[in-house]
Amino acid sequence: GAYYIHQHTQRTKRVILRDEVKNILEPFQLSEDQLRRVMANLNTEMTNGLKSNDHTDKNDLAMFPTYVHYGPNGQETGEYLVVDLGGSNFRVSHVIIEGRNRLRLNNKIFLIPHSLLLGEGEKLFDYIAECLQRFIDDNKLALSKSSDYKFDLAFTFSFPCNQTSLRQATLVSWTKGFSCTGVVGNDVVLLLQQAIDRRKGLKVQVVALVNDTVGTLMACNSIYRDCKAGVILGTGINACYFENLDNVLKWKDEQNQTAKQVVINTEWGALGKNGCLDFIRTTIDRELDSSSSTPQQQIFEKMISALYLGEIVRLIIIELVQRSILWPGRMHKTPSLRSDYNIFLILRGSFYAKHVADIECDTTEDLSVTSSILTSIGIHNPTYDDCYIIREVCKTVSLRAAKLTAAAIAVLINRLNQPSVTVGIDGTLFRHHEKFKKNLTRTLNRLVPRTHRLVLSEDGSSKGSALVAAVDRRTKETTAS
Ligand code: GLC
Repeated sequence: GAYYIHQHTQRTKRVILRDEVKNILEPFQLSEDQLRRVMANLNTEMTNGLKSNDHTDKNDLAMFPTYVHYGPNGQETGEYLVVDLGGSNFRVSHVIIEGRNRLRLNNKIFLIPHSLLLGEGEKLFDYIAECLQRFIDDNKLALSKSSDYKFDLAFTFSFPCNQTSLRQATLVSWTKGFSCTGVVGNDVVLLLQQAIDRRKGLKVQVVALVNDTVGTLMACNSIYRDCKAGVILGTGINACYFENLDNVLKWKDEQNQTAKQVVINTEWGALGKNGCLDFIRTTIDRELDSSSSTPQQQIFEKMISALYLGEIVRLIIIELVQRSILWPGRMHKTPSLRSDYNIFLILRGSFYAKHVADIECDTTEDLSVTSSILTSIGIHNPTYDDCYIIREVCKTVSLRAAKLTAAAIAVLINRLNQPSVTVGIDGTLFRHHEKFKKNLTRTLNRLVPRTHRLVLSEDGSSKGSALVAAVDRRTKETTAS
C-alpha cells in the first residue's frame, strides 16, 4: 500500500513540476503569427531607417550606408593588412589578393586583456598598433619592402559607425560589452591611424573601415554572384545587404553618381528600442536588459546573440531555484551564499552559449553531458530531473533565438526580391551550434517560399575586408584611367 502511495505522489509531484516549468517557459515559445509580426515590424523599421538620419531616437535601426557599392569581380589585386576588432577574437591578418579570385591569408589571434575593453580608448588603440607591429615583425613582412613603403590596412570594426566615407566613421555607441572611454563620437579610423603613427617605424595607412557583416558579404559574394546579404550570428547579431540607391532617401553622396547600389549596414540588433518587440519580451528579457551595461539598447540582440543566450538560461534557472523547482532539497540544506550553486547564481555571465548548445544536444540516457557541464560550473551532483529541466530550458531559449533569426533573415530575403538569394553567414552560433542552425533553416523555409540558401562565409571579416579595400582600389583605378 505505502509503496503505491509513494509512487503516486512521486508521479503527481513530477507532473506538477513539469507544469510549473511549462508556465515559465511558455512566454519563450513563439507562434508563426508572432514571428510574422516581428517580420512586419523589422521591415517597417528598415524602411524608416533609410529615410532619415534621425536614428538616435525615432528609428530603431541606423541603416548606415557603408560606401561599398560593388562586389568583387575577380580582377582585384593587392596586399593588405586587416585588423579585426569586435568579434569573439581580436585578429590581425595579412591578405594577398592575386586576381582571378585567388587570395592568400595568414592570420593571428591576439588576446585583449579585459581591462582594455573597459578603460581608455587610446590605450586600446595603442595595443592594436602594438599587435600590428608584432605581427609585421614576426612574419617579416616589411623585409622585402622599400623604406618608404606603406601597407594598406582594412579595419574591421564591428560596432555601429556612422560613415561619411570608406575611411571616415564615427562610433555611435559601443555594443557587446565594450565600453572604452573617449571613442564614442570620434572617428575610429583616425584614432587607429594616430595610434599607428605614434609608433615610429610602423608604416601603415588605414584605407577602409568595414563592419564584419560587410566583410562576410564581400567574401561570400566573391564566390556566389547571387549573394547580396551578409549576416553575423555570434557575440552580436547584425546584417547588411545591397540596397538600391533610389530607396536610400537619406543618401547624398555626390561623388559616386554612377553607382546604383550601396551596401547598408542595418544594425538590426538594435530592433526593439522603441517598443516594437514588447509583445514578445518576457520578464527575464527585461531583467537581463536592465542589469546590462547598456539598458534599452540592442533589445533584439539580447534575445539572440551568443553573448546573451547563456545569461537568459541562467536567469531562468534562478527563477526555477527560487520557486523550489530546481534543487529543492539543497536549497534548504545550504542556504549560505557560499554554497556552490549560489556562487553560480550570483555570477552574471557564468553560463555560456556553448553550454546551452552542448546541453541542448545531450541525448545520453542519463543526461551525463548536462550533468558534467553543470558540475564544471560549480553545481555538483545535479539529479536527473534537474538535468532534464535544464535541458528543456536550453532547448526553448535556443529555439526562440533561431526562430527570431529566421524572421529577420526572411525580411532580408523578401526585400532583395531576386529569383534566388544566397545569404553569407558567419559567427559562432551558425558555425558551431548545430541545433540552432537546423531550427533556423527549418523556420526560414516556413516563412519564405522564395528560393534561398544560407552559406557559411569562411574568414569573411578578414578576407572580405581586404576585398573591400581591393574593390575600392580597382574602381578608383578604372575611373582614373
Ligand atoms: C553588434 C554590432 C554590429 C556587429 C554585430 C556582430 O550588433 O553593433 O556592428 O556587426 O554586433 O558582430
